[in-house]
Amino acid sequence: MSSYGVTIAGIGSYVPERVLTNAELETMVETTDEWIRTRTGIEERHIARPDEPCSAIACEAAKRALAAANLKPEEIDLILVATFTGDKTLPNTGCYLQHRLGAVNAASFSMEAACSGFIYGLEVGANMVRSGGYRRVLVVGAEKISSVVDWTDRNTCVLFGDGAGAVVLQRAPLGQDCLLAVKLGADGRYTELLQTPAGGSLQPLTAELVAQRANCIKMEGREIFKLAVNAMCDASRTALEQAGVTADQIRWVIPHQANLRIISSVGKYLGVPEEKVYVNINRFGNTSAASIPLALDELVRSGQVQSGDLLLLTAFGGGLTWGAAVVRW
Ligand code: ACO
Repeated sequence: MSSYGVTIAGIGSYVPERVLTNAELETMVETTDEWIRTRTGIEERHIARPDEPCSAIACEAAKRALAAANLKPEEIDLILVATFTGDKTLPNTGCYLQHRLGAVNAASFSMEAACSGFIYGLEVGANMVRSGGYRRVLVVGAEKISSVVDWTDRNTCVLFGDGAGAVVLQRAPLGQDCLLAVKLGADGRYTELLQTPAGGSLQPLTAELVAQRANCIKMEGREIFKLAVNAMCDASRTALEQAGVTADQIRWVIPHQANLRIISSVGKYLGVPEEKVYVNINRFGNTSAASIPLALDELVRSGQVQSGDLLLLTAFGGGLTWGAAVVRW
């Protein structure tokens, strides 16, 4: 039972300064700019400094979201960081972010749903607000994927980038709710398709495993590709139906930026014209949990989203996990 509604009071995003181009990757692994562009749509991605952990990336996005909401860090009462590349396994990255931000009154935790993490985080954060327990919840999708990439594996190293996006969710009167519907899903039969095989309790790190780069991302790209389009489209249709909204009422579809061909297929199957499907994968690559808030922030800051616009967010990722959300801006 909800006691309150929820609004998005502010949004912000950040990417590290350093740009890694396809041309530079050509000098690192056996690949070409042409292969990367035609198979993925990616031209460049941003890579964090060695001294810039996930929480530092998250903090820049969070500061911008707070400034947009005109709020001080101490006014936040809950922080939720969606990431699979946190500063450490223990403690949680939310605590590192809380300290960096000076959000001294916030409970803090992190959660992991890979590239679907931001949509999962929105659903969790919104319900924390609706229940009445929290007034202002900071939901951040942040990743330093460069820290778990095998830079000798051309199958994966060309795909990912670092970055963060954040929103401040704020209590609103009951009946006023920006999140019209959310549909989440998962299928644990596919855990092996995208994983960091070692470094958890299943296979703790050893020197041998590190030498084999078993702590880095391994991916069955083609298998994921097939499952991704269906999962995103099914979740999107369900969320639209639950929200009582048709695809042609949507101002922007903001899909997780994993591959341009996946993004285009999702737009096509949902019957949404190309110009309403937002794409920035060319400049950032796949930033996992950061990708949707990063894209939404770009749209908001460039004035391409107006108050009242309907947005459809949809993502899939390791797990496999997926989700879709209908948002009224
Ligand atoms: N440069 C040149 N050649 C390459 C590269 C590269 N960087 N990478 C792979 N190849 C080669 C392969 O070795 C293969 O060669 P072969 O035929 O001689 O064996 C050939 O290109 C084709 O490989 P495929 O894997 O079949 O290529 P595909 O067209 O499927 O594209 C890709 C691969 C881009 C990974 C695609 O499958 C994809 O995007 N899948 C979805 C993956 C995804 O989105 N993952 C993220 C999930 S989100 C998360 O949770 C983090």
